[in-house]
Amino acid sequence: MSFGLKVAGALTVVAGVFVASHFTHPPIISIQRGYRGVGDVVLYQAADLEHLRAANRAPAPEPAQDPAGQPASKVYQNVKVLGNVDANEFLRLMAAITNWVSPQQGCTYCHSQENLAYDTSYAKIVARRMLQMTEHINKDWQNHVGITGVTCYTCHRGLPVPTNVWFNAPAPAPHAVGGFAEANQGKNLVSKVAVDSSLPYDPLTTFLEQSNEIRVQSTQALPGADNVSIKGADWTYALMMSMSAGLGVNCNYCHNTRAFRDWDQSPPTRVSAWYGIRLVRDLNNNYLDPLKTVFPANRLGPLGDSPKVQCATCHKGVYKPLFGVSMVKDYPEIGANGPVDLSAPIGSVGDFTAKP
Ligand code: HEC
Ligand code: HEC
Ligand code: HEC
Ligand code: HEC
Repeated sequence: MSFGLKVAGALTVVAGVFVASHFTHPPIISIQRGYRGVGDVVLYQAADLEHLRAANRAPAPEPAQDPAGQPASKVYQNVKVLGNVDANEFLRLMAAITNWVSPQQGCTYCHSQENLAYDTSYAKIVARRMLQMTEHINKDWQNHVGITGVTCYTCHRGLPVPTNVWFNAPAPAPHAVGGFAEANQGKNLVSKVAVDSSLPYDPLTTFLEQSNEIRVQSTQALPGADNVSIKGADWTYALMMSMSAGLGVNCNYCHNTRAFRDWDQSPPTRVSAWYGIRLVRDLNNNYLDPLKTVFPANRLGPLGDSPKVQCATCHKGVYKPLFGVSMVKDYPEIGANGPVDLSAPIGSVGDFTAKP
């Protein structure tokens, strides 16, 4: 074999290895998500879809219980938000919560070993607020979660600290070189939330805690009232990248890419996403942020803020959490019409430690 042929052969092998390891290979599975014939599909490589399905399977419901005929408030001493739930159903919910949030640690992740009524752990106080938050999502945010709803498992998946929580990010250090080029505006660094792009580093604080304007495209041909800068557009794109990654979809899941701005040409999923953004802001500002006085210091971010929610905290890389399977239908007490007291004070650690 001539030297030239050997080199060509070697190059072919290298190119083959590169293609096999870097490109998506068949079979590709397409899941229809919109009206037939409009190309509204999500594409998956078969093996990836299998992994996603395995990682996003809803656990079996706890066996049903006969009602005790008495509310939990009559049977137990320190029930603030679940007082109107039947006492047997209350215990069934406790068993479910343990599987959803702290299966390794068990009841004592939230409870004192001495007395279940004591409020000795921050986790129990947080869990009370989480019960109110879950009820609020299912009751007041049906324009996002529909009747599918959410349970603790949607976010927690068997872990006390859910995956994909985030904190306010400290401003990145200016470049060491100094001078005019120093002002990097938070760009030209690897932005983890914007899928390792060089887009701005913290679009989540900007848009999912604060309510800054996301819309950036001009609605008219000539310059005039629309004054959003290219820098502003970078922030919007960073958010859009994080949303796409959170749902495991492409931009065209919510946009017609020939006219990103135009709602008339966007699929209905964009409306769900619009509500999703407002839902996340509500949870972060009204539920998670106020808990910063309850969480121990090691749970807070570098700037002292609470851990927060984003799209991926519920969605986990799937267009609908758990591929749209509803778990809350088996736990109506935390569903849209559940009796959780949404306004009861949650108390604080040490409030209730008296011996009966
Ligand atoms: C993730 C936190 C968490 C876990 C885990 C948990 N609980 Fe609870 N439990 C709570 C909260 C919060 C309350 C108070 C509910 C309220 O105020 O309405 C409570 C209250 C109770 C009460 C009422 C006590 C009283 O007299 O006031 C009982 C009984 C109970 N839990 C049993 C259990 C059992 C049994 C387990 C384990 C199978 C368990 N819990 C696991 C959070 C938890
Ligand atoms: C929308 C997502 C979401 C839902 C739904 C949700 N949680 Fe949470 N939960 C969070 C986030 C975010 C945190 C903060 C993470 C941390 O503690 O570091 C958290 C924290 C907690 C903690 C404190 C864990 C620790 O050690 O810091 C407990 C306990 C808890 N949740 C219980 C529950 C229970 C019980 C439910 C259902 C009634 C529930 N959560 C529903 C998002 C959620
Ligand atoms: C899950 C749905 C969803 C995905 C995926 C998504 N977007 Fe968006 N996008 C929205 C929504 C909703 C808005 C409007 C937000 C608002 O007004 O509060 C928006 C707004 C925008 C805007 C501003 C439009 C205007 O009026 O100025 C641009 C540009 C944009 N998206 C680009 C993208 C790009 C690029 C991608 C892919 C990287 C993407 N989007 C992925 C839902 C989505
Ligand atoms: C509290 C949990 C939760 C959070 C946080 C959340 N979602 Fe959702 N989302 C859901 C649930 C549950 C559904 C399924 C609703 C249904 O079955 O009708 C859903 C459905 C959707 C859909 C419709 C999908 C379809 O195929 O019809 C879109 C789009 C979406 N979410 C976008 C977002 C975006 C974007 C964010 C972040 C800004 C977000 N969601 C945050 C729970 C959540």
